[in-house]
Amino acid sequence: MDRIKIEGGYPLHGTISISGAKNAALPLMASALLTDEVLTLTNLPHLADIMTMAQLLAGHGVKLTMTDEDRGTFQFDGSNIFNLKAPYDIVRKMRASVLVLGPLTARYGRAKVSLPGGCAIGARPVDIHLAALEKMGAEIQIKEGYIVAHAKDGHLNGADITFPKVTVGGTENILMAATLAKGQTILRNAACEPEISDLAECLVKMGADITGIGTNTLVINGKEKLHGATHKVIADRIEAASYAIAAAITRGRIEFKNANLKDLTAVVRILVDCGVNMIETEDGFIADAQDAYLIGTDVMTEPYPGFPTDVQAQLTALLATAGGASLITETIFENRFMHVPELARMGANINVHGPSSAIVRGVPKLSGAEVMATDLRASMCLVLAGLVATGTTIINRVYHLDRGYEHLEEKLTACGAHIERLTD
Ligand code: UD1
Repeated sequence: MDRIKIEGGYPLHGTISISGAKNAALPLMASALLTDEVLTLTNLPHLADIMTMAQLLAGHGVKLTMTDEDRGTFQFDGSNIFNLKAPYDIVRKMRASVLVLGPLTARYGRAKVSLPGGCAIGARPVDIHLAALEKMGAEIQIKEGYIVAHAKDGHLNGADITFPKVTVGGTENILMAATLAKGQTILRNAACEPEISDLAECLVKMGADITGIGTNTLVINGKEKLHGATHKVIADRIEAASYAIAAAITRGRIEFKNANLKDLTAVVRILVDCGVNMIETEDGFIADAQDAYLIGTDVMTEPYPGFPTDVQAQLTALLATAGGASLITETIFENRFMHVPELARMGANINVHGPSSAIVRGVPKLSGAEVMATDLRASMCLVLAGLVATGTTIINRVYHLDRGYEHLEEKLTACGAHIERLTD
């Protein structure tokens, strides 16, 4: 299995071009199931999760054509859907597979999707997705590990739905379903992450009637049919935040191209509090920590526009090397401090209190070690720690990184990192 080897201690300087957002791309790809015309997506990142979603869609009958590899342009032709089942073998690899449930039930009146299991960062049920579909007239049964959905009237009906908890995937699934439901759907307490707005904008291009985009109340007037469209996936704000932290932790300076600072307000606020200079540019931003004395700060993860849980692990690495103490509170997932014991092996001083908080006391130096990551963002946290640690860090289970960071080694090497992939 591949590993990543890093020689730490080199400040990063250079330019990084930010890829298309994985978490925007996945629901956008699922939305191809809503129409029998061609959906063209550009700026799709080359990532394992994108390949998994492509495989899932192909299994349903979507014809995929790559028209421009360099620009990540793919055409999705959903005119010949012959299979409404999303099998366990694919869903277990990637929870976002459940995003086919809403579109399939909306277009065909039924679907059978494997229940995603728990994962490293918590139980992560899909009960809210299912309750919303029931409210739209679907009968839901759980049979032999599968969600079996059946629209009682042969189609879904519009409904007034208040999500009991903010859910990104739940909002995306039900938003897609509502575009083809009969009548009006109102989604209250909806998630308003930029990836959801990106999906909604694409659905509008496909003929959907959606208002309230960017807010936590979405109003959708269902249409009989959607049509084809062309849409560019937004920049990956989590990738941008991760590499901004790479500049900060190594006390370097990186310029980001094709990035969008306005999607990163909460991250910018925290990094500025720590002492990082964040400067907006025409097509991105600069993160500059040269000569900075970085200090700790308190942070709480929250739904957008709050601080993203997907940047919590990476920020923990930075705070581990900043002056003073920081309190991290995780409010989205119940088991998201798995990176802490690995950071401790590199010399970090972090105490986890209960399921949701950790106190980080900055240390002057981390030291390289062989470490193992449990999920995507935890892996990035260890890469960041390795970039600043003295000596060599070896990160096992690189497949996690391949799910979410396109050309990781190339991008970091171009900025002066000493990082390489070891293939056994
Ligand atoms: C998405 C992101 C993930 C990010 C997360 C939170 C994708 C592909 N993944 O995941 O990277 O960390 O948002 O920003 O976009 N919940 C329930 N019942 C449900 C649905 C969710 O209890 O039916 C809970 C979850 O267990 C979790 C919280 O709600 O504690 C938020 O989950 P959700 O926003 O749905 O996350 P995902 O869409 O799975």
